[in-house]
Amino acid sequence: MTKVAPADAASIARAAEILREGGLVAFPTETVYGLGADATSAWAVARIYDAKGRPSFNPLIAHVADIDAARREAVLPEGAIRLAEAFWPGPLTIVAPAAPGGSVCELARAGLPSVALRIPDHPVARALLVALGRPIAAPSANRSGHVSPVTAAHVAQDLTGRVDMILDGGRATAGLESTIVSFCEASPVLLRPGAIAREKIEKALGAKLAAPAGAEVTAPGMTASHYAPDARLRLEAHEINAGEAALDFGGRLSALAPQGTLVLDLSPRGDLVEAAANLFAHLRELDSRGVADVAVAHVPERGLGEAINDRLRRASAPR
Ligand code: TXA
Ligand code: MG
Repeated sequence: MTKVAPADAASIARAAEILREGGLVAFPTETVYGLGADATSAWAVARIYDAKGRPSFNPLIAHVADIDAARREAVLPEGAIRLAEAFWPGPLTIVAPAAPGGSVCELARAGLPSVALRIPDHPVARALLVALGRPIAAPSANRSGHVSPVTAAHVAQDLTGRVDMILDGGRATAGLESTIVSFCEASPVLLRPGAIAREKIEKALGAKLAAPAGAEVTAPGMTASHYAPDARLRLEAHEINAGEAALDFGGRLSALAPQGTLVLDLSPRGDLVEAAANLFAHLRELDSRGVADVAVAHVPERGLGEAINDRLRRASAPR
């Protein structure tokens, strides 16, 4: 059962331990409560999508303790640094190209070459980040489609039994999510209006923010910039054809594999959370082995299967 703990030093230390072990902790920020997991672990991040009941792998915000941590994760152009100096810690999220050697896992980035970063301005969130010493991936701590929670009680209503701990730090004061600005285009783009007004950001930047290109904001999973494998994927395969490799689930295809076939199983024991955690790594592995054609086993459309299938369908779409 989920423990709601007052956010004192002892429970923050315990929360960091839970995160280090791959667990989920809901915690207060100055905007809304976040549903946190170790951002460096695909396994832990897969549990976020599972707990929220998200139908697709949206990219998540990686919360970091300080600007040095941010610079390890992203290549921050001058404008981003200016905004970071003006608004961090605070309700500003900066999207920028992921740094080579950054630690935020690909699942948290939903396969994008960019990463979303923010230093929250809340003593509990900061203490948790310092105690963990790693970035924390955290969307708002509500079930998918519900409103964002601003109290521990709201979080408990949505996520009891789905998170390992809820840190109660009182009411989140902003009540509105962070403003998201992307530095992945020629000029900065306002991806999501939020707790810091556009005018304030434009003033600090000394430039106007461009409007986002419609569909990219509402459904970032649709963008072509997501990692797409070179290999051709044949979904819902019941057999492995000559020359194909296989992306298996629950050992369905492995039993039928001719000798010498490369078979990667998303989850030999048929666990959808494990499959989500392995998805991007396995697709990359197939590419790095120079595979041209892949038979992909049926993945059930329940739980995280919906998001996995959504991603596989996009990855198999003609390009
Ligand atoms: O105030 C907030 O931002 C809260 C607290 C917990 O920090 N978090 C939050 O997270 O609102 P979430 O997951 O509900 O919203 C994250 C947004 C999504 O709209 C997502 O599409 C966008 O950030 N995002 C994340 N990474 C991105 C990327 N690499 N490129 C474009 N958009 C990105
Ligand atoms: Mg949300």
